[in-house]
Amino acid sequence: MSDDLLKNKIDLNKLPKHIATIMDGNGRWAKSQGHMRVFGHKSGVKSVREITEGCAELGVEYLTLYAFSTENWARPKFEVNALMTLLVDTIGKEMKTLQDNNIKLNAIGNLEKLPKKTYNALIKGIDDTKNNGRMTLTLALNYSSRWELTQTMQKIAEKVKIGEIEPKDINADIIQNHLATHNIPDPELMIRTSGELRISNYLLWQLAYAELYFTDVLWPDFRKPDLYTAILNFQNRERRYGKTSEQVSEKT
Ligand code: FPP
Repeated sequence: MSDDLLKNKIDLNKLPKHIATIMDGNGRWAKSQGHMRVFGHKSGVKSVREITEGCAELGVEYLTLYAFSTENWARPKFEVNALMTLLVDTIGKEMKTLQDNNIKLNAIGNLEKLPKKTYNALIKGIDDTKNNGRMTLTLALNYSSRWELTQTMQKIAEKVKIGEIEPKDINADIIQNHLATHNIPDPELMIRTSGELRISNYLLWQLAYAELYFTDVLWPDFRKPDLYTAILNFQNRERRYGKTSEQVSEKT
């Protein structure tokens, strides 16, 4: 099916407001072509660009990409350094496209622990695009859910300590409001590429009701038609939020 035919099948009134992705398979993609893993990450940037553009064109309001996990520091130093440099370069190179398309850059994670150059490029990118309103592109960088939830608990505990919150009043809303994603809605669709069937410490709280979509396509091969296929798959699912199928269809 042609790209446009696939795109035209998408119901724009039933778009996920927020799509989160785990961009997996860069290393395998590179190795399969006889290249070093870093070549896969560089090629993955093209997919980042396409998917960002594809989401913005459709009207998806939030896109979150898992770019570097707290566990990724365990990779060979050469690969970590290359990824950090790639981030600086990509943010610099893509700034004009973000501005032209009215896209706001955002980041979640333990950002202060990033190398200074990466941190500075990120903060500048976030600041330069802060007034853009068409879509928010969030990079999860030096991020893991367990890190985020630990931070969240510490922040709430501090407020309990000074008497601002009573322990009995802690509820889902209070927790939500102290997450790194406090200013963005929970993802409705989570896409993981490369055939791995795991969440890998990603947005564990926020994905509570998300539809999970796994594809064998490796991230550097993931293009707009793959995005459209994922969204169409999402639109064909029944989202029940704990209710029965009959209750859900009564409402529509
Ligand atoms: C996982 O593939 C991918 C990463 C850890 C890095 C993703 C980074 C990019 C696509 C480039 C920069 C991104 C932005 C947003 C500018 P893997 O290395 O685990 O692949 P494998 O499972 O095949 O080894």
